[in-house]
Amino acid sequence: MLSSSIAPVITIDGPTASGKGTVSSLVAEQLGWTVLDSGALYRLTALVAVRAEVDTTNQQALAALARQLNVCFKQGACWLDGENVTEALRAERVGVLASQIATYEPVRTALLARQRDFLQAPGLVADGRDMGTVVFPTAPLKIYLVADAQSRAQRRYKQLIEKGISANLSDLLADLQARDLRDTTRALAPLKAADDAITLDSSALSIEETVNCVLAHWAAIQN
Ligand code: DC
Repeated sequence: MLSSSIAPVITIDGPTASGKGTVSSLVAEQLGWTVLDSGALYRLTALVAVRAEVDTTNQQALAALARQLNVCFKQGACWLDGENVTEALRAERVGVLASQIATYEPVRTALLARQRDFLQAPGLVADGRDMGTVVFPTAPLKIYLVADAQSRAQRRYKQLIEKGISANLSDLLADLQARDLRDTTRALAPLKAADDAITLDSSALSIEETVNCVLAHWAAIQN
């Protein structure tokens, strides 16, 4: 069933590396709500496909994998069949494949109900590309979080370097622009702001300022 009456939902959609994940987790923490990282479900499907050597153009086989994912999110980590796959999911190769399989209708359908199952009291912060447009269209607060490509590439570069992973800024920028293009131009559930979304540009904002801005919008609609 699709109903924001079970519990309220704040949707936070936006392009890759816009800070959605961090902002969503912090907003959920402040409100004491659950968080849904919907991109992780696409990444998990991609990871399982690679590991099981499933043909990554076989849409039905990929949808079957998506339906069967034995996944659990706890303690800020993602667990697949009891294995902590948080790091494995962040691999560039997995991200690129996730973006590809996210264009397949059977995969999106398989993941739709799974995403809605995350809705529980007291509330849910849902992070993704189509949370406000497709998955939770009746959400009372929809945020469309953007940042210019250069700032996003720089953030991603900093994250990788801090983790001791070597990275090249211009490669990251090119990859991010290619992924933006695929996410915004695909036929199904493309990345776009819902008509009733509030667009927030975080290029010049800190994480804390962005979180406070989302919380202020939430507080404003409570009054
Ligand atoms: O947010 P992310 O980078 O972890 O997402 C990985 C890919 O999954 C992204 O390129 C597009 C896809 N995705 C999607 O199509 N719909 C969502 N709600 C979330 C992610």
